[in-house]
Amino acid sequence: MNIYQQVFENNKKWVESKISHDADFFEKLAKDQTPDFLYIGCADSRVPANEIMGLEPGEVFVHRNIANLVVNTDLNVQSVIHYAVVHLQVKHIIVCGHYGCGGVKAAMVPKDLGLMNPWLRNIRDVYRIHQDELDGISDTEARYDRLVELNVREQCINVVKVASVQKRYYHEGYPTVHGWVYDLHNGYLKDLELDMEKEVAKIAKIYDLHEDF
Ligand code: CO
Repeated sequence: MNIYQQVFENNKKWVESKISHDADFFEKLAKDQTPDFLYIGCADSRVPANEIMGLEPGEVFVHRNIANLVVNTDLNVQSVIHYAVVHLQVKHIIVCGHYGCGGVKAAMVPKDLGLMNPWLRNIRDVYRIHQDELDGISDTEARYDRLVELNVREQCINVVKVASVQKRYYHEGYPTVHGWVYDLHNGYLKDLELDMEKEVAKIAKIYDLHEDF
C-alpha cells in the first residue's frame, strides 16, 4: 500500500475509533460548531494545531499560512477572523508561531524569492520595526528566535486592528488575543504572555475603530 492509499486506511481506522467511544460522535459534530478558540498558525507540517493543543474536532477554528501572518489585505485571514468573532463568537484568538520557522528565516536574508516576496515582506517589516533590538543580538540563532517571537507579537497587534475584534471586545470583554510560540525540539507551547491591553492602549489613537459602530 502506498502512502496515498494509506491515508484512506488511516481515515477508516480513525472513524472506527471515534465511533467506538461514542456512536453519535459524527452526528453530534455535524449539527454545529461552537469552538472557543481561533488558532492562527504556520502552515508548517510539524505544527498540527489540534494535536499540540490536545483538542478534538469542533474545539478550535483554524487558519494556517506561511509564518502565521495576519495581513490587512488578505481576504482569507480577514474573513476567518470576522467569521470567528462575529458568528462563532470565539473567546480566544491565538497567534502561534514556531521556532525554526522557514518563512521567518527566509525573511532574515535580503534576497529575491520571486512570488514569495510580497508575503515575506510582511516579516521584513517586522524586522524593520524592531531593528534596534534585533541588531543588538549578535548570535544569529538567538536573533532568529527573537524575530519569531516579535513576528507573533506584531501579528497579535494586527488582530486587534480588526474592527469586528474591537467591537466584540468592547461590548463583551472577549475575545482575548494571545501570542504563542511552539518549540519543534520539545513539543512545548510557550505563552509569550503579551499584555494586549497595553499594546492596544499604545496604538488606540491610530487604530481604534470601534467608536464608529
Ligand atoms: Co513556519
